Formats: sequence, C-alpha cells, structure tokens
Amino acid sequence: MKLGRLVLSCALFVGVASAQDVMQKSMSIMEQGMTQIQQGFLNNNLKLIKSGAKLVKDGNKLFSEKEVILQYLPKEKKHMVNVAENAAKRIDLDVNVLELNLDDKAYINAANAYSDMLNACARCHSIVRSW
Ligand code: HEC
Repeated sequence: MKLGRLVLSCALFVGVASAQDVMQKSMSIMEQGMTQIQQGFLNNNLKLIKSGAKLVKDGNKLFSEKEVILQYLPKEKKHMVNVAENAAKRIDLDVNVLELNLDDKAYINAANAYSDMLNACARCHSIVRSW
C-alpha cells in the first residue's frame, strides 16, 4: 500500500513537472524566435526573420489551448483565460500576416505584425504577472 502511494505520488510529480516543461519550452522557443525576427529586421536579414517566425509559430502551438493556459494562471486570474487564449491566437495570426507581408515585400507591414506579436506576449504576461 505504501509503495503504491509512493508510485502514485511520483507519477503525479512527473505529471506536474512535465506540464511545467510545456510552458517553459514554449516560452523559450518563442523568445528565441522573437529575438531572431528582431535581429532579422534590424540587419535586413530575411532568412533570420523567416526562421524566427517559424520558431514563434511552433512555440506558440505548445501553449495555445485553453486547458493548458488555465493551469498557469494564478487562482485569482483564472477568469481571464479567454483574454490569455486570445493573446495566443493573436500571435498565430500575426505570424501569418508577417509571412504574407514578407512574401509581398511589404516590410513595414511585416514589421508592424512583429510589433503586434510583442504586444500580445505582453498582454498575456500582464495577466500572469499582475503588471
Ligand atoms: C497565453 C499566455 C502567454 C502568451 C501569449 C505568452 N506568454 Fe510568455 N509566459 C506565460 C506564462 C504563464 C509564463 C510564466 C509566468 C511568468 O514568467 O510570469 C511566461 C513566461 C515567459 C518567459 C519566462 C520563461 C520562464 O521560464 O520563466 C519568457 C521568456 C516568455 N514568457 C516569452 C514569451 C514570448 C516571447 C511571447 C510572445 C511571442 C510570450 N511569452 C507569450 C504566458 C504567456
């Protein structure tokens, strides 16, 4: 019985630990992506902008479902899960807008999409961090 409990609590712990990983993994991929996009715009390096956009898109996928986001909102902020989810959706849309504008060589519009992505990061962070 005791061993069973130990196994169970280990399993629970691993479950919580890997849920933690999803957020950290997602954020670190998106952070890398945003850095690449910024460097790409500053240095006029299209390849870097494109690879950054792909990273942000992939990272965002890991942290865009309501059930996942909900786990990371503080208790008193759980009611704001829709706002947080919308921030993730906005990032996904912005990546598309950015890529389409790059294809059209509309670089100012592409850079604006990047700014909007950054705002969306801040929108969700303002909820979890009580900014
Ligand atoms: C839907 C909500 C949400 C969105 C959107 C979001 N984040 Fe986060 N982010 C979090 C949460 C939750 C944390 C962990 C709590 C904290 O750091 O305050 C976090 C933390 C981070 C961290 C610190 C990671 C760590 O391990 O502590 C970085 C870096 C980060 N986010 C980058 C980004 C970037 C870049 C974007 C936009 C491209 C973004 N985030 C968008 C929810 C979000």
